[in-house]
Amino acid sequence: MISLGSHLHSSNPLDLSSLPDDQTALSIRNLNLYYDTNQVLFNITMRIPKGKVTAFIGPSGCGKSTLLRCINRMNDLVEGTRVSGEIILQGQNIYAPEVEVPVLRRRIGMVFQRPNPFPKSIYENVIYGLRLQRIKDRRILDEALENALRSAALWNEVKDRLHESAFGLSSGQQQRLVIARAIAIEPEILLLDEPTSALDPISTLTIEELINDLKRKYTVLIVTHNMQQSARVSDLTAFFNQGKLVEYADTDTLFTTPKSKQTEDYITGRYG
Ligand SMILES: Nc1ncnc2c1ncn2[C@@H]1O[C@H](COP(=O)(O)OP(=O)(O)OP(=O)(O)O)[C@@H](O)[C@H]1O
Ligand SMILES: [Mg+2]
Repeated sequence: MISLGSHLHSSNPLDLSSLPDDQTALSIRNLNLYYDTNQVLFNITMRIPKGKVTAFIGPSGCGKSTLLRCINRMNDLVEGTRVSGEIILQGQNIYAPEVEVPVLRRRIGMVFQRPNPFPKSIYENVIYGLRLQRIKDRRILDEALENALRSAALWNEVKDRLHESAFGLSSGQQQRLVIARAIAIEPEILLLDEPTSALDPISTLTIEELINDLKRKYTVLIVTHNMQQSARVSDLTAFFNQGKLVEYADTDTLFTTPKSKQTEDYITGRYG
């Protein structure tokens, strides 16, 4: 059994099977995904609670990133992808034909494994989404910039070099910059796909602390390979294997008393 350290969540476990709508950020229903003829997600049904951190864990290739990308329709960009089922965001299926994908992506921000700042200044990186919305008022931009950088725990490190290139930052700072860029447009949900896997331990710790703060304002979904990380940062954990949701529970329960033998084998390191 892995050690959970001191980060045991003591609050009462959420009852995920009867989570009321007003506490639900997303409801995934019977989701299947195919890359051409290859089915990689099988009938995923789960409710993601609002204002919590939910982690997706499971062996390489089990479909964690694919499922995350379904949530802001990034898979639309992959040719040959077919999705069936629904993902309900505030009463609306995000796969309904009338949904405007750019608007959806403003509501559901995403951060990838490797920091991907744009070749622009720190300032322009953070306010990029506001520029796209044609916001020009300097005061609004400056205020959004400072708020986002403070929320991303980066303000103090960059406030005197806002107009320097983002490439001059360390990779841990770049990842926080990308998180600042994602939250500058105030999304409802933040998707993080292995956000610390390219970072050193200290930067990883900084980002983990940041994730803990972010859930005060946002619903956070994080894919991680690292079970200790899931135990440290998440309120809920979903374990996937071969495209299926095997077990989904509050993080303490999943790691201490898993119901499924597959989950137990994975978290005790018997495979993966
Ligand atoms: N663009 C794509 N085209 C075809 N197949 C893909 C594509 N992306 C992923 N797959 C396949 O879908 C399955 C799930 O992949 P996915 O990247 O979602 O797994 P993952 O759980 O995120 O793995 P990892 O932990 O290695 O990142 C794998 O079999 C993968 O080969
Ligand atoms: Mg992945």
